[in-house]
Amino acid sequence: MRMVDIIQKKKDGGRLTREEIDYFVNGYTRGEIPDYQMSALLMAICFRGMTQGETSELTMAYVNSGEILDLSRIEGIKVDKHSTGGVGDKVSIIVIPLVASVGVPVAKMSGRGLGHTGGTIDKLESIRGFNTALSQEQFVANVNRFKMAIAGQSADLTPADKKIYALRDVTATIDSIPLIASSVMSKKIASGADAIVLDVKVGSGAFMKTIAEARELSAAMVEIGRSLDREIVAVISDMSQPLGHQVGNALEIKEVIEVLKGGGAEDLTLVSLTIASHMAVLGGAFKDFDSAYQTLAEIISSGQALAKLRQLVEIQGGEVDLIDHPDHLPSARHQIEIKSPRNGFVHGIEADGIGTAAMLLGAGRRTKEDSVDYAAGITLIKKVGDKVRMGQTLCILHTNLEEWQEAESIAGQSYKINALAPGEPIYIYEVLK
Ligand code: URA
Repeated sequence: MRMVDIIQKKKDGGRLTREEIDYFVNGYTRGEIPDYQMSALLMAICFRGMTQGETSELTMAYVNSGEILDLSRIEGIKVDKHSTGGVGDKVSIIVIPLVASVGVPVAKMSGRGLGHTGGTIDKLESIRGFNTALSQEQFVANVNRFKMAIAGQSADLTPADKKIYALRDVTATIDSIPLIASSVMSKKIASGADAIVLDVKVGSGAFMKTIAEARELSAAMVEIGRSLDREIVAVISDMSQPLGHQVGNALEIKEVIEVLKGGGAEDLTLVSLTIASHMAVLGGAFKDFDSAYQTLAEIISSGQALAKLRQLVEIQGGEVDLIDHPDHLPSARHQIEIKSPRNGFVHGIEADGIGTAAMLLGAGRRTKEDSVDYAAGITLIKKVGDKVRMGQTLCILHTNLEEWQEAESIAGQSYKINALAPGEPIYIYEVLK
């Protein structure tokens, strides 16, 4: 087999065979196929696409390139969730204790943040002592005993995806539905879950800018799941503004605690309860979505979900005191208020702008090697639909840096203020199964 023939075939719009897909994935991972040939093939895939069969075969080639977690020692249907990435997205930290409260085992693997999006692992590590480097034995034992565990993605899972993703990042070949679908699904399949809820974000802060694109990506991922015997539900949710009021690691943990106390932002609470309800149904705890939603809402109001978060922090070595006293979480030296330049209504808050500003304040990483400042971030006082008067605070920047002008300018420009009130915001667009 020759790589040049595979490139030519895809360039001409042909369907690659399983053998050809395995050949280029394994050859590139082992360093036998050079970057220039792999880049040419990725670009041909971007233009010509892949059939559903090719996409599933690519997914399995990624999965088989590394370790596959064996969760068979965990009793029950193991459920996982994955978000395609957003700003202020702390849903995982809310749904883990919530779903575990109804006895469904949640075995969660998460990543760190890069660029304008945050990562669940960084957020949890803003709780002093919280250990996300669990051994496989500890991970399995915690899920069996407490119905929940969260760990950083092992470096041994899907090495082919890691290497190809890094190449896509620098060759403008990220935005291809089959490439995104196989990349996301391979990590979830290798993580060993039986059932997965996908939170597919759409809007300015997401990979998918339109609902049509989000629907196409969701359908491709649901189909991969079907072909590999995994139950998948894809929820298409809004990322045209950041989720909730807080962006930044410790700030987001404070907001998680508010939601689990029953007093959180409307959008964040609704998206979290929706994802958690689908997980609980897939895990067999409820017959239908509505009864799951109602019970999980009651579990929040009764304080059970917050108690379960406290338990998660305790079993993973974090300071439990921080859950009862969130004001003891890291906080920044400087708070800078951004004021509204006019009277009107908030029509939009560009999520990618807020994410970039938060990163510049220290909350995120420009490159994988950067460290994060847990205290840094942005509090969105006003959200889409809110009325504002000139001079009222739109948002507050938090930073330990001495320079914040660029972040201030980007965050200010991310707010769109118009004279007329916008329509009702939509938080969940569609659910695909
Ligand atoms: N997230 C992933 O894991 N892979 C992609 O290709 C895009 C988003």
